[in-house]
Amino acid sequence: MLNKEYSFATTNDLQEITNLFKNTIQNVALKDYSAQEITSWSEGAKNTDNWLKRIDTHYFLLVKIEDVLVGMGSLDSNGYLDVIYVHHDYQGHGIASDLLRRMEEKAKSDGHRFITSDVSITAKPFFLHKGYTLVKPQLVLCRGVVLRNYHVQKQLV
Ligand SMILES: CC(C)(COP(=O)(O)OP(=O)(O)OC[C@H]1O[C@@H](n2cnc3c(N)ncnc32)[C@H](O)[C@@H]1OP(=O)(O)O)[C@@H](O)C(=O)NCCC(=O)NCCS
Repeated sequence: MLNKEYSFATTNDLQEITNLFKNTIQNVALKDYSAQEITSWSEGAKNTDNWLKRIDTHYFLLVKIEDVLVGMGSLDSNGYLDVIYVHHDYQGHGIASDLLRRMEEKAKSDGHRFITSDVSITAKPFFLHKGYTLVKPQLVLCRGVVLRNYHVQKQLV
């Protein structure tokens, strides 16, 4: 069993958070997107203001194993799941499942009937497996490059 520790993100975690974002895209999402798409998406790691805003305003949970960041999830006050990433060496250990459950519980306790997200091609099967429904496929402009993703939602009962 992995000894997982949960904490809320702080500004001290910024570097590890942006590294996890970039490395997960470059190692895991790589199979579903072109090299150009991977580059433009992962460059979001450099948008420090956006990450600081998430840390400041979102329900932003980190999962660490022996002090190494292995997973993160963030939820905004509208019940929108903004971020969910799991370290490439820790895929398939239930880390995203734990994070998602906590995000759903938080959205529900905040009074939302639905949790929504825009998820990658890579993450879509995971979300469908977790009971989310596909609202629509979409093309989004990301630093000059068009990326495919999917708007999904789940009713919180
Ligand atoms: C999608 C992602 C978050 C899943 O993380 P994970 O920790 O490996 O997922 P888990 O181990 O919790 O898997 C949970 C369940 O989903 C299922 N699952 C995971 N990936 C799946 C896939 N591609 N197809 C079908 N089922 C999948 C597993 O079988 C597991 O099922 P179970 O709960 O019945 O045992 C992870 O692969 C990731 O970081 N992907 C790249 C980053 C990304 O695209 N993030 C989303 C941006 S929107």
